[in-house]
Amino acid sequence: MTMIYFDNSSTTLPDEEVMASFVEANRRFFANPASIHGLGTDAEKLLERAKEQMLKIVHCENGEVIVTSGGTESNNLAVIGFARALQHRGNHIITTSIEHPSILNACRYLEEEGFEVDYMPVDEEGCISVEKLIRKIKKETILVSIMHVNNEIGSIQPIQEIAKAVKERSRAVFHSDCVQSFGKIPVAMDENGPDAITLSAHKINGLKGTGALIMKHGIRPQPLTYGGGQEKGLRNGTVSVPNAVALAKAMRMSAVETERKDFREWRNELIAFCNQYENIKVIAENSAAPHILSLSFKHINGEVAINYFQENDIYISTSSACSSKNKQISHVIEAIHLENSFKNGVVRLSFGKDNHKEQIEICKDVIKRFMELMERGLK
Ligand SMILES: Cc1ncc(COP(=O)(O)O)c(C=O)c1O
Repeated sequence: MTMIYFDNSSTTLPDEEVMASFVEANRRFFANPASIHGLGTDAEKLLERAKEQMLKIVHCENGEVIVTSGGTESNNLAVIGFARALQHRGNHIITTSIEHPSILNACRYLEEEGFEVDYMPVDEEGCISVEKLIRKIKKETILVSIMHVNNEIGSIQPIQEIAKAVKERSRAVFHSDCVQSFGKIPVAMDENGPDAITLSAHKINGLKGTGALIMKHGIRPQPLTYGGGQEKGLRNGTVSVPNAVALAKAMRMSAVETERKDFREWRNELIAFCNQYENIKVIAENSAAPHILSLSFKHINGEVAINYFQENDIYISTSSACSSKNKQISHVIEAIHLENSFKNGVVRLSFGKDNHKEQIEICKDVIKRFMELMERGLK
């Protein structure tokens, strides 16, 4: 039996074409894009072309792209950088209690610097209330950072509606971490979209160590690094043109204008199957992105399920790859107030482009056998 990889929200297999574009750009465009000779200007042109492609894909033609080392750096640059750049206008930031640690810990750091941060609660499906968010906006609000799709349970926040609400009531920058949404559901930075978004290449069959902060024209964070003034002073250090080219390629290959229908069908099929068991709880059943299915097994430790799946050649995660090695209940699971008996048993299945329908059938059979085994053990 060939292995089934259902851990695409942790990372994905790099696409052959993405790797080929990286190698080709390294061979032919190795020069420093800041050099003024012909090789340098050729590399610079290629960099500009890659950025234009990225901007077009997210409907932000006259915006700005900063290529970073990944989602973490992009999120840090957005939160800390915008907060510092806008502190002359106020010190209030709004985010949610279920953000990725690269947002949450940056916010906690800013609190130590004197900023005031509101962490919006979520309901049991992992969604914030836009009404409540509106009530939090005040004249000191300078930044709102709300993720599009949650990495642990898949819940979707209505970022277009949030963008509108923020724009109508303040001059705050609205940033959204779109690491888990891009390529699975539409992400658009048009008039009604967010002002800035974070992307990470390795979640979309690109290369690890590359990401982007994409911003609308006219907004600018304070840089986090100091150096030679590259990237208009926003990210200092020699720019890696091959990384930018490979990111643009991965984005082109995974861009979607509508949500992934096949993933939605597979998710629905597994939900219908799991709902036969009262000892399995589907998390964010009605509010999640098509490619993420979060489940919990009653009175069972998630690790036990992961090991059983692995013995059957299926690779899944506990709620997130970063929290899977520390045994604490994740902040997202705490935030949705999951019943105690289900808190330890959360696992996440996440689909990617190399999965196919037959794997769903195999997965159902493994769940069935796992439940038989567990139910025998519980008696
Ligand atoms: C929602 C979200 N934001 C940010 C990140 C961080 O991205 P990276 O691994 O590229 O630093 C991740 C990765 O797990 C994520 O899922």
